Amino acid sequence: MKILVVGGGGREHAIIKKLKENPAAEKIYALPGNGGIAEDAECAAIGAKDLEGIVRFAREKGIDYAVVAPDDPLVLGCVDALEAAGIPCFGPRRNAAIIEGSKVFSKFLMKKYGIPTAAFEVFDDPAAALSYLDSAPVPTVVKADGLALGKGVTVAMTRDEARAAVREIMEDRKFGDSGSRIVIEEYLEGPEVSVLAFTDGETVVPMVSSMDHKRAGDGDTGPNTGGMGTIAPNPFYTEAVADTCMRTIFLPTVRAMRAEGREFRGCLYFGLMITRDGPKVIEYNCRFGDPETQVVLPLLESDLLDIMRAVTEGRLKDCPVRFRPGACCCVVLASRGYPGAYEKGFEITVPAEIRDAVYVAGAARRDGKLVTSGGRVLGVTATADTLEDAVAKAYARAETVRFENRFYRRDIGARALKALRGE
Ligand code: AMP
Ligand code: GLY
Repeated sequence: MKILVVGGGGREHAIIKKLKENPAAEKIYALPGNGGIAEDAECAAIGAKDLEGIVRFAREKGIDYAVVAPDDPLVLGCVDALEAAGIPCFGPRRNAAIIEGSKVFSKFLMKKYGIPTAAFEVFDDPAAALSYLDSAPVPTVVKADGLALGKGVTVAMTRDEARAAVREIMEDRKFGDSGSRIVIEEYLEGPEVSVLAFTDGETVVPMVSSMDHKRAGDGDTGPNTGGMGTIAPNPFYTEAVADTCMRTIFLPTVRAMRAEGREFRGCLYFGLMITRDGPKVIEYNCRFGDPETQVVLPLLESDLLDIMRAVTEGRLKDCPVRFRPGACCCVVLASRGYPGAYEKGFEITVPAEIRDAVYVAGAARRDGKLVTSGGRVLGVTATADTLEDAVAKAYARAETVRFENRFYRRDIGARALKALRGE
């Protein structure tokens, strides 16, 4: 079977490594992939947003199955385009990917179907948004409607901060058309949990829960990033919380999408806040999370390719999805300066014995060597029986991966371990 994976980050590397465990996956291509993924798949320089290029490539290579991983191609309709060419895909069609592509859509969906989320207002006019802020409670949260490279959300502690965010999004058009509308919503408090779930539009099977660490600095300080590390499972996601989420969030969301004629097939990501009033949705993503995938898939015992095909073919309820007990930690090694400006082109050395546990995000090949090419360079993971051991092992491994200007957070998993100790 020839498989195409669209995307080129650590998440895609984790997906590809897992797909390779199935002997039916005789050949895997990645578009565009990266210098590290090139060790596990054949990469070609076609961007993930180049739908025509992707379809042409898939036809030329006789692709049997495609996995579309990133948000941009999903929201643009990459699955629709590949399906139109007769290629079955893992991932939602465009009309379902809107659950991530438009925050306004997802907020109205939740409101209509009574799915718990922060109270909100929508604005398409900056003057109205600014005047609303004169009396809005603070802290408050300002969100651009569309995709914004994960940077479209401002948690504003003061009204001035909120006003500045509105102006940047709506007047300066910092995120282009993604900012023609905004959501201003209630500030929620509580631990955050990420839950990725397989769904074929009817059955929904949550994966092991995880926790992202979004800020660049230790102790959740500094600017927001694409994610500096993850752990799984998330100790705040107790069995009771999981039951509530299934009943009040996961099933209602999948049913709501079907009722709207937007059946969702693929991986649906629930970004949750466990508030005093119970779990609430902060955001939906129409795809696997990054770097959540790097800790979730290593704990998946069942075969990923089998599950993905069951999702595509609408027979998830008959497909086993089992996770092994134990925990996993991923520490992201970044280039110093990220998420701001950073230098690149430095040679990376990864000891052979940990290569299987490394997922490469921002690295290229130069003269046969792996060199840094992005802000988040790679994720180093470890699994163990306990979270404490997984964290210690991931850090011991991280130390052995070398490149100039390397930096990483020293406290991935610290909050989770504290919670486990009851502190
Ligand atoms: P997002 O880019 O949608 O993942 O949001 C980035 C981060 O903003 C989330 O991970 C939360 O920490 C925070 N956030 C988003 N919405 C809210 C909210 N309503 N209340 C508090 N924090 C929020
Ligand atoms: N880690 C958050 C995301 O994938 O959006």
